[in-house]
Amino acid sequence: MLKAILKLQTDIEKTIISNPGELEQFRIQFLSKKGKIALLFDSFRLIPPAEKKLIGVRLNELKNQANEKYQHFKDVLPELPKHHLTNDLTLPPDSMPIGSRHPVSLIRKEIISVFSNIGFTVAEGPEIEDDWHVFSGLNFPLEHPARDMQDTFFIEKDPDILLRTQTSSVQVRTMEISKPPIRKIFPGRVFRNEAISARAHCIFHQIEGLYIDTNVSFSDLKQTLMFFAREMFGEKIQIRLRPSFFPFTEPSAEVDVSCTICGGSGCNVCKYTGFLEILGCGMVDPNVLEASSIDSKTYTGFAFGMGLERIAMLKYQINDLRLYFENDVRFLAQFVSQL
Ligand code: DAH
Repeated sequence: MLKAILKLQTDIEKTIISNPGELEQFRIQFLSKKGKIALLFDSFRLIPPAEKKLIGVRLNELKNQANEKYQHFKDVLPELPKHHLTNDLTLPPDSMPIGSRHPVSLIRKEIISVFSNIGFTVAEGPEIEDDWHVFSGLNFPLEHPARDMQDTFFIEKDPDILLRTQTSSVQVRTMEISKPPIRKIFPGRVFRNEAISARAHCIFHQIEGLYIDTNVSFSDLKQTLMFFAREMFGEKIQIRLRPSFFPFTEPSAEVDVSCTICGGSGCNVCKYTGFLEILGCGMVDPNVLEASSIDSKTYTGFAFGMGLERIAMLKYQINDLRLYFENDVRFLAQFVSQL
């Protein structure tokens, strides 16, 4: 009997378990009612009384050893659906969980599609930039207080190398290498040295738009934004332009849409104003055109820039910016249907 116990001990040790099928084989072979250990227990009654105590202890150790091994592999092997263990080929296949696109990707895709319907194409630029493309080429004079509007992460000083704070930098890069007519949008990540909270984050996404041609007017800008707002938020949406200031546009405006929650009648999301801010825009300042060698007497243009998290917030009623970056599957799974 002792010999048989020792043999089973080594057999159990040597058995390799690398998948649920092998684990089940192990259970049947050693731990089932007709398994090898159960058989030994059956013959236990035939053991002479004097040996019973020793053999009993060893038998229990053997059983524990097998149980522990079984439990260990049961815990570590990934759970597989039961019919993986069967050979029944007529069973339906396992359903695969469907992933979801991130809300920022959904919004980016949608905005690109809206603008591509009216002839805008997509261009991208680097996230690590120099002072010229983010500030100087966009008519931010040195020491101008407008530079403080955007808290910049500097990588190197003199000459300045920095993380771009706005995708307007890609306007400059585009104007440097192409001639009007230019009709492009620039999606990308931007970085600002902000404390992270529900309303601010140090990384976010923008889409910038640029249209330069002969005779581009402010009413072209307004019509384009109206078209965009209707496509994005529905036919009933209203837009409102408020005068504003950006160094690279003159005149400049901020654009609000009628509140997507209350429809304009006033609620706590729009702080009872009936409107929500969605973007900044304006006519490209002649200084910006000239800085990139585009003749400002022949050409005019408009530009606009918006934050994707902000648009997603309005569209999906997401009230905390941090949710976008935590990758919590419970948050992401809510967008499964939006492929
Ligand atoms: N770059 C601006 C920002 O990050 C947004 C913006 C405003 C872009 C006006 C524009 C514009 O092109 O014309 O705050």
